[in-house]
Amino acid sequence: MYPVAIINQKGGCGKTTTAVNLSAALVEIGKRVLLIDLDPQAHATIHLSLNPEEVETNAYDFLKYAGKDDFFTKDVVYEISENFSLIPSHLVLSVFEQAFSGMDDHEYRLKDGLSSFEDVFDYVIIDCPPSLGLLTFNALMAARHVIVPVEPSRFALQGISRLKDTISLIEEKTGHDLIVKALVTLYDRRTRFADFMAQQVRETFPHNTFETIIRRTVRLKESAFYGKTINDYDRRSTGYDDYLSLAKEMVASSEKLKPEEFHDAVKGLAEQFNVEAEESSVEVPFVYRNAAASDIRIAGDFNDWNPDDSTRLEKDDSGTWKKVLRLSPGQYQYRLFIDGQWAEDDNNPKKIKCPFGGYNSILEISTGSN
Ligand SMILES: Nc1ncnc2c1ncn2[C@@H]1O[C@H](COP(=O)(O)OP(=O)(O)OP(=O)(O)O)[C@@H](O)[C@H]1O
Ligand SMILES: [Mg+2]
Repeated sequence: MYPVAIINQKGGCGKTTTAVNLSAALVEIGKRVLLIDLDPQAHATIHLSLNPEEVETNAYDFLKYAGKDDFFTKDVVYEISENFSLIPSHLVLSVFEQAFSGMDDHEYRLKDGLSSFEDVFDYVIIDCPPSLGLLTFNALMAARHVIVPVEPSRFALQGISRLKDTISLIEEKTGHDLIVKALVTLYDRRTRFADFMAQQVRETFPHNTFETIIRRTVRLKESAFYGKTINDYDRRSTGYDDYLSLAKEMVASSEKLKPEEFHDAVKGLAEQFNVEAEESSVEVPFVYRNAAASDIRIAGDFNDWNPDDSTRLEKDDSGTWKKVLRLSPGQYQYRLFIDGQWAEDDNNPKKIKCPFGGYNSILEISTGSN
């Protein structure tokens, strides 16, 4: 499951159009998709021809009850077509902030609810309201990828820097890494001004702007009006081509992140150029004195947080535990796993707060370090 939040506090920049049509395009290329309408305006729900007043359960119920024993998450998921599901919205979502802000886990309701869908969907696309309130915050906590649609107009760049600051703050506060990418939408190729603005977007998000640009076309507006995705409405329109291209780009960038594929790719590249794949990695020793422990392991994002047998440290007669890991340059988070309990590494002062409680230790390996 790969959760993607579509966020911009500016209204009317193409969030909902992107959420609906990117979802449909991902389904078209064979992915199982869940779209979550997290905007009380319920535009995505209406775009898919559902009447928010007629659906029995909605995203509010999902946020409120998911994870509780007597709530079946499947009851809140509506099947739009094969491999395409929706959790609809309702105006009641607008009271979410007041109703939940006093609760402990109010920022994690969506993330916790989604955990039951891990193997059910490939992509979860979250359409957010035009504000940076608690609903958007929930989406940011649940997401691995954020798409920021930007309309190339005079006022569009106002607010992007604020959004960048909000995302940086979330990363800093929670240690939750997000891939953030801007998407130029509503692009009118007939105006030079649109080119200028698209360029501005690229400069604001260097390296983080989708290659795909969503062109302005009346067919997308019409498809929304008729309650259809562009795939169902007009496959000959530029809107269809653009969202298909976005879906492919999205899949390419998200799948690139799978550690095992990344590893294979690096190995493949190394073989092609006839160099040792491991050449750039360095040996990192971990040494602890702990006579009381009977089992110490180490796990982090370098081994998918899996403290399996291969991660066990060796103990010598003096009660000193040792392990040498081979790691490539990069920044890693990790914890010790002492007698079945996660523990912080007291030898390492560099820590970051973990969203699930406690602290993860940080390990930075730069090229050429020993
Ligand atoms: N590429 C496009 N070409 C033409 N019209 C578009 C395009 N993208 C979006 N629109 C239209 O622009 C309007 C705003 O788009 P949309 O509802 O997707 O924005 P939004 O960011 O979700 O707005 P809100 O912030 O209110 O939720 C809609 O009428 C939509 O049909
Ligand atoms: Mg919208």
